[in-house]
Amino acid sequence: MTTDALRADLLAAIDSATTLEALEALRVTALGKSGSVTLFMKSLGGMDAEARLLIAPVFQALREAVATAIEAKKTALEAAALAARLASEQIDLSLPAAQSPRGSVHPISQVMDELSEIFADLGFAVAEGPEIEDDWHNFTALNIPPEHPARAMHDTFYVRREDGEGERMVLRTHTSPVQIRTMMGQKPPIRIIAPGRVYRSDSDATHTPMFHQIEGMVIDRGIHLGHLKWTLETFLKAFFERDDIQLRLRPSYFPFTEPSVEVDVGYSIVNGSRVIGGADGWMEVLGSGMVHPRVIANCGLDPAEWQGFAFGTGVDRLAMLKYGMDDLRAFFDADFRWQRHYGFSALDVPTLSGGVGA
Ligand code: DAH
Repeated sequence: MTTDALRADLLAAIDSATTLEALEALRVTALGKSGSVTLFMKSLGGMDAEARLLIAPVFQALREAVATAIEAKKTALEAAALAARLASEQIDLSLPAAQSPRGSVHPISQVMDELSEIFADLGFAVAEGPEIEDDWHNFTALNIPPEHPARAMHDTFYVRREDGEGERMVLRTHTSPVQIRTMMGQKPPIRIIAPGRVYRSDSDATHTPMFHQIEGMVIDRGIHLGHLKWTLETFLKAFFERDDIQLRLRPSYFPFTEPSVEVDVGYSIVNGSRVIGGADGWMEVLGSGMVHPRVIANCGLDPAEWQGFAFGTGVDRLAMLKYGMDDLRAFFDADFRWQRHYGFSALDVPTLSGGVGA
């Protein structure tokens, strides 16, 4: 075969190769050790010098042309393969506008977002702690020593340690241990809220073994009960989106606060059901008080220099009061119909300007 015919054959074959494997096979038949082009090159060895001088550039040009065509085809096939892969792995991140979104945000998540938005506006940061907590953070540091009767009120779940050694672990019974972790982990002034899951061995229409609380704490110089009252009033007005919220502070007892107050909010009866606002009756909504000096000292701070207030309340209960659910257990049933009725749109991000729950 002449070099011209071979060149035409090879270039046509290269052009019609559809896969990288077929192209590689072609490369071997043409340029491999005993490939057709290589054989031409090898034949130069048997020629006399004059003929070789004449023929060599022709053979070299053939080899060049074939190698260049293979390279170009290879680049094209690789680009096509990449384009096909990118097209097949593409994800459409846009929401289908014509179709209503299927999922919805659970009221507890929504209320936690609302609370975070309200307190962020007041300069509070969100703090976290572990759900499997040690006895010291959950109780002792909060001025609930072993054998203290308050421990019995918590119906604690204990966690067995595999090594059987060290401190006893519990599923945290409240979000208050986050107070301790925060005071030990950062310097005052401190303003935090800590929303999260808590656990108690209790189950009926108004109690579930896992539920949600939110803790709040301020530690600074010169903090007094007036700051607590203003903060709670501002928070509850923003949360329930009403200006006529009335608070009643009742003396109470918590081991980690002194003095301690329980906070009731006034409700009125509208068409036979309770609505927050007014003062036809009172409903307890949170526990709070001035952080006990002993708790501040347990965290390595000087109670003569630093004071603060704290409060804690149930997120589930706040959600029920605001959005009118009456059975706590439904929150955890994962019933799609309930969720569709009470859930929120993923696009409904709470903002203060829009009304947090709007
Ligand atoms: N930890 C309390 C509970 O679970 C709630 C509570 C009361 C938290 C008073 C506080 C507080 O921070 O000051 O019942």
